[in-house]
Amino acid sequence: MDNPDNILEVKDLRVEFPYKRKSLKAGNGVSFEMKKGETLGFVGESGCGKSTTAKAVMRLLPEQAQIPSGQIRFQDQDILGLNAEELRKIRGRKIGMIFQDPMTALNPVLTIREQIYEQFIDRNMTRKEKEEEAIRMLEYVGIPDAPQRLREYVYQFSGGMRQRAMIAIALAGHPELLIADEPTTALDVTIQDQIIKLLNRLKKEMGMSVLLITHDLGVISQMSDRVAVMYAGYIVEYADTLQVFAHPSHPYTCGLMEALPGKSRQERPLQAIPGSTPNLEELPAGCPFAERCGYCEGKCTEELPELQEIAEGHYSRCHFPEKLKNYRGLIEL
Ligand SMILES: Nc1ncnc2c1ncn2[C@@H]1O[C@H](COP(=O)(O)OP(=O)(O)OP(=O)(O)O)[C@@H](O)[C@H]1O
Ligand code: SF4
Ligand SMILES: [Mg+2]
Repeated sequence: MDNPDNILEVKDLRVEFPYKRKSLKAGNGVSFEMKKGETLGFVGESGCGKSTTAKAVMRLLPEQAQIPSGQIRFQDQDILGLNAEELRKIRGRKIGMIFQDPMTALNPVLTIREQIYEQFIDRNMTRKEKEEEAIRMLEYVGIPDAPQRLREYVYQFSGGMRQRAMIAIALAGHPELLIADEPTTALDVTIQDQIIKLLNRLKKEMGMSVLLITHDLGVISQMSDRVAVMYAGYIVEYADTLQVFAHPSHPYTCGLMEALPGKSRQERPLQAIPGSTPNLEELPAGCPFAERCGYCEGKCTEELPELQEIAEGHYSRCHFPEKLKNYRGLIEL
């Protein structure tokens, strides 16, 4: 680890999916680090490579995915160099994962109890201890009638309760890092709110680090300490959440903010940014956001901007971050 306070360090991660004679570039030199106990949010429109990055950290990419370069260090382990047995010890135990759709993440033919018990496999626990711990986990995430519900299957749970059950299973292994990929996207607003509050409470109590993935800046503002804005497989802005909300320094981040309505988020979806994301099989030579950017000028279409530090701990991949100097973000610091 470059920094002993870090739990995860990702450097120059490239992920490609070969497609006919081309290759789709879903991760273009992604670098970031996470401190112990912090929540780092990845945000960006659909298809920008958020899930791909998360799956790479768990080594859950499909077989055809190629990783031409990159380093992923989790605690003192080199994730890309681990064998199947070593990975098994990390997944679910040290790194837990929850997804948008519990129906695909949970096993329909196992009871909730069996799925929680799977997380105890490496621990020396008696039957009674397992039962008590499983009940405790369900109660912990706010599922009533826990002893009864342990015996049930996922289809017997409502949407919000499924999400809670998935969180209970993910947390039963006491992971040090939780990867949450759109954990609230499929839920209605009230339940979304409850799950965000629950995750915030659990991460504090368990001292867990959370890698949060969402297309919703609102969720970022409620959960993340720091944020990485992704576009076309690149991190384009990376800083403390408050810093980004007060002084966004990439035109794409501003575009996401413009799409966030003051009152009702539902009424103004992300389409507020004109145009669409570039084709990841034929990325332009210059800035990937150039076609949609109101600040674009000559150099932008010719030269790919580097991710540069524009203030302490605040990074932007734009040739002209100073153009946003007077842009008012959503909060004032
Ligand atoms: N198994 C795969 N085979 C080929 N291409 C893939 C595969 N998985 C993802 N991709 C492509 O990689 C790019 C990034 O996808 P990814 O799922 O990481 O995006 P995302 O930011 O998570 O989007 P969303 O918000 O829709 O979940 C997309 O263009 C997607 O089509
Ligand atoms: S580099 Fe140019 S095109 Fe890209 S975001 Fe900055 S101003 Fe816009
Ligand atoms: Mg995704």
